[in-house]
Amino acid sequence: ARLVVLVSGSGTNLQALLDATGDASYGARIVAVGADRTDIEGLRRAERAGIPTFVVRVKDYETRDDWDAALAAKVAEYEPELVVSAGFMKLAGKAFLELYGGRFVNTHPALLPSFPGMHGPRDAIEYGVKLSGVTLFVVDEGVDSGPVVAQAAVPVEDDDTVDALHERIKRAERQLLVDTVGRMVREGFTVNGRKVTIP
Ligand code: GRF
Repeated sequence: ARLVVLVSGSGTNLQALLDATGDASYGARIVAVGADRTDIEGLRRAERAGIPTFVVRVKDYETRDDWDAALAAKVAEYEPELVVSAGFMKLAGKAFLELYGGRFVNTHPALLPSFPGMHGPRDAIEYGVKLSGVTLFVVDEGVDSGPVVAQAAVPVEDDDTVDALHERIKRAERQLLVDTVGRMVREGFTVNGRKVTIP
């Protein structure tokens, strides 16, 4: 299967997928890496792996919808069967979801529906939960609100800083992402009781 991965930062989740897809038996290969900004480690990781990259910046477009349509068109050039948002910090809009809804997954560093949004690890600490974790879900038009594909629990330690918890979550996140994407492309997946297969 052809994967496009979208990033906005350090790209450690992307790196885990780069490492896994290097093995032909994994069942998927990354055909391009896209970002909403330049000069991030995530893009450099793709370049080091010899994978095409693209950047679609919100500020280069009149409206958010124009940006969304441009992002959708750019991703479509690579004809992915699955799009993976791994630390991509923008919400996909109507045009993007029309093209990729149902085969666009995102990873979030909390156990959704708890703690959606930009600060999952911080919100978990502030609430005082003893377990947080990571969620892989199919993106819908909401914020971190789509159907859950896979989750992993991660303990919260009493003295955790936000960074300490997020780093612990990211270790589980990379593993969940690699394992789940691999299973999705090889066996398909069930979302809301419906079986979805990636051609
Ligand atoms: C990940 O934990 C992701 O869930 C969150 O931001 C982090 C990005 O990390 N949105 P990286 O860019 O994959 O290293």
